[in-house]
Amino acid sequence: MVKAEEVRSLGVVGAGQMGRGIAQVAAQSGLGVVLVDQSPEVAKAGVERIREALERLVDKDRISAAVRDATMERIGVRDGLADLGACEFLIEAAPEKEELKLQIFEKLGQVARDDAILASNTSSISITKLGARSGRPESVIGMHFMNPVPVMKLVEIVRGLPTSDEAYQVTVDLARRFGKVTIGARDIPGFIVNRMLIPLLNEACYALYEGLGTAEDIDTGVKLGLNHPMGPLELADLVGLDTCLYIASVLHEELGDDKYRPCPLLRQHVAAGWLGRKAGRGFYRYDDRGQRL
Ligand code: CAA
Repeated sequence: MVKAEEVRSLGVVGAGQMGRGIAQVAAQSGLGVVLVDQSPEVAKAGVERIREALERLVDKDRISAAVRDATMERIGVRDGLADLGACEFLIEAAPEKEELKLQIFEKLGQVARDDAILASNTSSISITKLGARSGRPESVIGMHFMNPVPVMKLVEIVRGLPTSDEAYQVTVDLARRFGKVTIGARDIPGFIVNRMLIPLLNEACYALYEGLGTAEDIDTGVKLGLNHPMGPLELADLVGLDTCLYIASVLHEELGDDKYRPCPLLRQHVAAGWLGRKAGRGFYRYDDRGQRL
């Protein structure tokens, strides 16, 4: 298995908000990044969004133009999964759909170098299951970043039942190279962070559904009453309501406790396509740059 200091190039599967964030922090920490998505056009659009994020850091004097350019030079786009064979470390950040992730891990198991580590940014799907499908379960691990990736300090590292100690250590070291703090979590639905977060977000949906207050009242209550940086409904919009519903459903089905039942209002928002910030509408409305209207 590859050693921590041998990891030079990171393959990122998925150019959505999490994949872009991971690609950005990896490139900023000096790694070469290969980004793939359903098509090279989607991946290229993701790279443009990374350029814009770096541009904002230049505007705020957080990084120099030279660092921006050097970071961008480290990020490349390829056609698809078959082009990730040279990367020492691969991380999947595709939408939270089990069958899609299983297919990706099956393919990664076929194309990745023998000594590569295959990580998933999944927030709820079993790492053990993904590992089994890959055919090399000892090399498969959860590397769960928080949104927005460049700002949030934590990475939750999840070991599947057969994940090796070496894969765990290399993943911890890589997260540290990105400037992150890690926690270890068992491969039980929701891991640690979402076991805490999703019931809070779901309960906020119930509070709105039952008319306890307006969305603003609920968010202000939690922000100022509990000192959270964001209210639960605006945070649900940031995470994506489809993702929140998916994780709530996994908790409900796999832990079998009705306390996790997803709120009907959350289901309705997802059915309406009001998926949160990325869709321009969730509990709040947003412009095409994701700013609250
Ligand atoms: N990408 C990059 N940087 C961002 C950003 C983004 N999307 N959003 C904000 N930032 C940066 C800002 O540029 C700013 O940087 P500087 O200090 O260098 O200027 C900094 O973050 C603070 O931003 P703001 O002043 O605009 O606003 P803020 O102080 O309210 O912070 C926030 C914004 C960091 C998002 C903060 O509100 C926060 O921490 N919210 C909670 C986020 C959270 O809980 N995330 C976890 C979600 S759960 C998850 O991801 C797991 C899962 O599986 C569902």
